[in-house]
Amino acid sequence: MDKEIRDKFIELFNHEPLLVCAPGRINIIGEHTDYNMGFVLPAAIDKHIVFGVAANNSYKHRFFAYDLKDSSEINIDTIEKTDKQWVNYLLGVIAQIQKENKIVKGVDCVVGGNIPLGAGLSSSAALETGFAFALNEIFGFNFSKEQLVKMSQIAEHEYAGVKCGIMDQFASVFGKKDHVIRLDCRSLEYKHFPLKLDDYDIFLCDTRVKHTLASSEYNTRREECETGVAILKKHKPEVESLRDVDMELLQEHKGDFNPTVYKRCKFVVEEIGRLTEACDELEKGNVKRVGELMYQTHAGLRDDYEVSCKELDILVDIAERSGVVIGSRVMGGGFGGCTINIVHKSDESKFIDLATAEYKGKTGIDLFIYKVSIQDGTHIIN
Ligand code: GLA
Repeated sequence: MDKEIRDKFIELFNHEPLLVCAPGRINIIGEHTDYNMGFVLPAAIDKHIVFGVAANNSYKHRFFAYDLKDSSEINIDTIEKTDKQWVNYLLGVIAQIQKENKIVKGVDCVVGGNIPLGAGLSSSAALETGFAFALNEIFGFNFSKEQLVKMSQIAEHEYAGVKCGIMDQFASVFGKKDHVIRLDCRSLEYKHFPLKLDDYDIFLCDTRVKHTLASSEYNTRREECETGVAILKKHKPEVESLRDVDMELLQEHKGDFNPTVYKRCKFVVEEIGRLTEACDELEKGNVKRVGELMYQTHAGLRDDYEVSCKELDILVDIAERSGVVIGSRVMGGGFGGCTINIVHKSDESKFIDLATAEYKGKTGIDLFIYKVSIQDGTHIIN
């Protein structure tokens, strides 16, 4: 991919680019906990976006999307949303850098990759972090990695309209080969630890559906959690987020909640607990228990948080009944995209054959399955 991007860049712009690689991510457990100031357990993966970027000494940004075969020219003085979503992610990043009183001179950029779009593997975060990283490098802005993460997150809020948490951008930047990141989304303290899955591998099953509800429902979930926090704050003023809430407090004030908001909050409080337990079990090498917790997460996301969909439920059901998948659940925002599955190495082909056939039979859709390896975060390609 690097070579294709570089060649295309030289063909289009006739000078040499800086090459940057920004990966997508998985998340073992801890879903919808990031914007509730809880913990997450993501890792960067071997699906990525590659950027060729260089300053062009002009008043225009010239962008080319390699996979879409689409181009766009933007005057450097008019950074505002366009009707092309892929361009908006890039402009969103430039807008954040400008807010920091830095001048982004004209750049040429070719971008392309192998992160499936809409599969919940954070292609949009990779688009933001990779571009932010590249601009930081070529113009010497000296932003820290953490600043790049935060600017990319706000780019997503303002230019894509999704009030996402920090997990995806953080994982894309801070990923480390063969390690997961235990991130405290309140303090942004994090710890890399080796993912020792022994005889198991991680597989993603791509439903290949993305329901249009996804971003509006995501923002609604976030508001519902905020409503819950406001209710509990009346009783306990030090509550700032669902991170500060336990089941006892929630149950005590159940009467103040409408049932939907209660279910949302219950899920988040339980999920933060599950993540803590999963980390302890991973350290002990008890992968089976982690898998059980993943199934519980799926049930919570389906019944209480209500971000699953028919296709995802079918896949988790196939996994559970197969007897060869120790953990399976919807991963990421929901409403389509992928399930994450932990499968014993010796059962790999059995699982693939079974899931492919059953999913096709039940939905008519050809299932895509990706075996995941864990890679470094956003970096320059030499
Ligand atoms: C999306 C968001 C993340 C996170 C997950 C759910 O991927 O971008 O910030 O909230 O959903 O865990």
